[in-house]
Amino acid sequence: MQNRVTKLFNIDHPIIQAGMIWASGWRLASAVSNAGGLGIIGSGSMYPDVLREHIQKCKAATGRSFAVNVPLLYPDIDKHMQIILEEKVPIVFTSAGNPGTWTSVLREHGITVVHVVSSSKFAVKAQQAGCDAVVAEGFEAGGHNGREETTTMVLVPAVCAAVDIPVLAAGGIATGRQMLAAMVLGAEGVQVGSRFVASVEASSHANFKNRVIHAGEGDTYLSLKQLTPVRLLKNEFFTQVQEAEKMCF
Ligand SMILES: Cc1cc2nc3c(=O)[nH]c(=O)nc-3n(C[C@H](O)[C@H](O)[C@H](O)COP(=O)(O)O)c2cc1C
Repeated sequence: MQNRVTKLFNIDHPIIQAGMIWASGWRLASAVSNAGGLGIIGSGSMYPDVLREHIQKCKAATGRSFAVNVPLLYPDIDKHMQIILEEKVPIVFTSAGNPGTWTSVLREHGITVVHVVSSSKFAVKAQQAGCDAVVAEGFEAGGHNGREETTTMVLVPAVCAAVDIPVLAAGGIATGRQMLAAMVLGAEGVQVGSRFVASVEASSHANFKNRVIHAGEGDTYLSLKQLTPVRLLKNEFFTQVQEAEKMCF
């Protein structure tokens, strides 16, 4: 299928493999790009030299478009951005920060910029900052999450009504039927995380992949809501985190 998202990224299918710390290196990103979607290298867990290596390996493994995800709270952000410019990465997905900080710099260098948002208010800010598209990431999403608890079902149509740029839906999407539902709500593509984290090419540990595959309804919980909300699988570590948080607040 062809739409604004496939044209923007020069891909065959409007399926984006989410940037994910520790899980989405060059192997996963290039495999997704070679299959006609958009693969993303998650830079959030990488030192600058490691990021450069992943970008170079990704370029060698695919002739197709790929992207780098940059969480804007990363301490070495200037070094990461410098590498992205030097290596001529075509697309950058920013998250966890103000899109006003880096969008214009990246776009001046011809880079397509997408920002991840959890509300229509921030979607409008991303559009004003010059972003080419936004990811509307709902409460269901793995990883860090917005505090508002707006579900994908509610967020996607709200963001689509608020902005003119293409909207990618994220959070709880892992199958074709869920993708179709997101597109009926107005999204022009989907960003998928947890499903890809369990794939062979993901660099996540086999035990984590198995836990994700076997997780069912109610097996995750949005924890650390007072600090920096993150969705965790319910296990021993989760219990320790809950107890530590209770002691602090
Ligand atoms: C293990 C894991 C790590 C993640 N790391 C990041 C990250 O570094 N940067 C980011 O913007 N989002 C991150 N996310 C969120 C994803 O990019 C994506 O938006 C989310 O996984 C979509 O929801 P889903 O998991 O239900 O498919 C992460 C998600 C997971 C599951």
